[in-house]
Amino acid sequence: MTIGKAALLGGGVIGAGWVARLIENGHDVAVYDPAPDARAKLEAVLANADRAYARLTMAPRQTKGAVRMAASVADAVDDADLIVEAVPERLDIKRRVYAEVETAARPDALIASSTSGILPTDLQTELRHPGRLLVAHPFNPVYLLPVVEIVPGRRTSPEAVERAMAFYPTIGMKPILIRKEIEAFVADRLLEAVWREALWLIKDGVCTTEELDDIMRYGFGLRWAQMGLFDTYRVAGGEAGMRHFMAQFGPCLTWPWTRLMDVPEFNDELVDLIAGQSDAQSGHISIREMERIRDDNLVAIQQALKANGWGAGKLLAEYEQRLFDRGAGAPAAPDLSQPIRTTSRQVPPDWTDYNNHMNEARYLQAFADATDAFMRLIGCDADYIRNGGSYFTVETHIRHLDEARTGEPIYTDTQVIEGSGKKMRLFHSLRRGTDRRLLATGEHMLIHVSLDTRAASEPGPQVAAKLEKIAALHAALPAPEGLGRAVGQPR
Ligand SMILES: NC(=O)c1ccc[n+]([C@@H]2O[C@H](COP(=O)([O-])OP(=O)(O)OC[C@H]3O[C@@H](n4cnc5c(N)ncnc54)[C@H](O)[C@@H]3O)[C@@H](O)[C@H]2O)c1
Repeated sequence: MTIGKAALLGGGVIGAGWVARLIENGHDVAVYDPAPDARAKLEAVLANADRAYARLTMAPRQTKGAVRMAASVADAVDDADLIVEAVPERLDIKRRVYAEVETAARPDALIASSTSGILPTDLQTELRHPGRLLVAHPFNPVYLLPVVEIVPGRRTSPEAVERAMAFYPTIGMKPILIRKEIEAFVADRLLEAVWREALWLIKDGVCTTEELDDIMRYGFGLRWAQMGLFDTYRVAGGEAGMRHFMAQFGPCLTWPWTRLMDVPEFNDELVDLIAGQSDAQSGHISIREMERIRDDNLVAIQQALKANGWGAGKLLAEYEQRLFDRGAGAPAAPDLSQPIRTTSRQVPPDWTDYNNHMNEARYLQAFADATDAFMRLIGCDADYIRNGGSYFTVETHIRHLDEARTGEPIYTDTQVIEGSGKKMRLFHSLRRGTDRRLLATGEHMLIHVSLDTRAASEPGPQVAAKLEKIAALHAALPAPEGLGRAVGQPR
């Protein structure tokens, strides 16, 4: 059964992050949170998430799902396919919430707890339908970090696990099925180990909070973000790989290189020491501002990894490809007798330059995206390209007519000037969404190629027929102003 509507129980840091990710991917979400300021807190997170998504993906974003504030748990869950629980980390609160869930939810709705470490078997004990509960443990910010630990309890049904493993990739996530149920699962065990050691290092005066963070972010943090632990050490072992690495550092295991199970006493003195240093380190930046800095960096890292086809960036590329293939945002059956709406988006913040308007490279990108969208419309999509055919651009002429600023809605309409045989000549008009003002035009000549020979070739019959049909319809339109202009020609 596919997952459509979702319910979010708890709209705090994690709950709001889930809402952002779910609506971004077109799911309607009902949120229940009894806190009086729940809506305001949720909206603040949604605003940050929207800002981050505008930068994260170059693909046309889907039409967002709707958010509804529900009056009770029962009101939130009664028509939900997926019920995400993100209430405070206390077993008694979670169990109370599940009891309410069961009064109203459909028995086949999936219940996914966000708990950081409570065993799903303990969460299931009082449920009438325990088979549909599992843990789906995300990371903050949920709208940007893809991994989610899927932890079944003893009574979770295999179907529930299967459903979860199939669902999370559709919202851009990487589910990892945890093989054994243990407290804190995998990620929080690792984080707890680092945290305990870090508390000692600061308590003992070996370093400050800032120095410790610097050691991480200027050093091994960069390695972890893209290769994790074992691949990093494998490379560190040189040609002989992991075996050599283990032989070299194996003896350290018996050295006093960790105080892991010897925990510093948790008291006011420790809290004052850590919180005081942390305030001195970053107290001059607001938490909301730090969230935006964090989000920008997470976007930049994932985009860099996307260019390398690696790790979280590879996942992002796959997600974008699905958005492109689905033609998200584009009308299902456009009027082919008129210029066709090929893209529609907001100017992302990082598309602007020191003049505070869209930089030249992004005009080309906007037009390249429009060409890609047009290619998909005539059937030159991912499958067609996989089978060895595509169009290559051989000539481009862009006119910059007016400014486009960060956040402004923009769209492109595309007119076919020529579309026969191997040739496809397109004229794109980029306009501002608010007043339809013409911002730029892009004229492009493309040639169909065989990706095997890299030489010009005739397009497949279906692509050729679709292109010719649109070209014939567009031949009846007036020639767009600026068509065929040469650089520097007087206006
Ligand atoms: N913060 C993190 O980094 C993080 C990461 C992964 C998982 N988690 C887990 O996610 C869950 C939520 O944590 P958080 O950090 O978002 O906490 P939070 O305190 O920010 O949010 C919890 C929200 O639940 C609401 N709430 C309280 N009782 C409720 C009820 N009966 N019904 C509905 N809502 C109720 C509160 O008003 C609050 O807004 C916890 O289980 C936590 O362990 C947290």
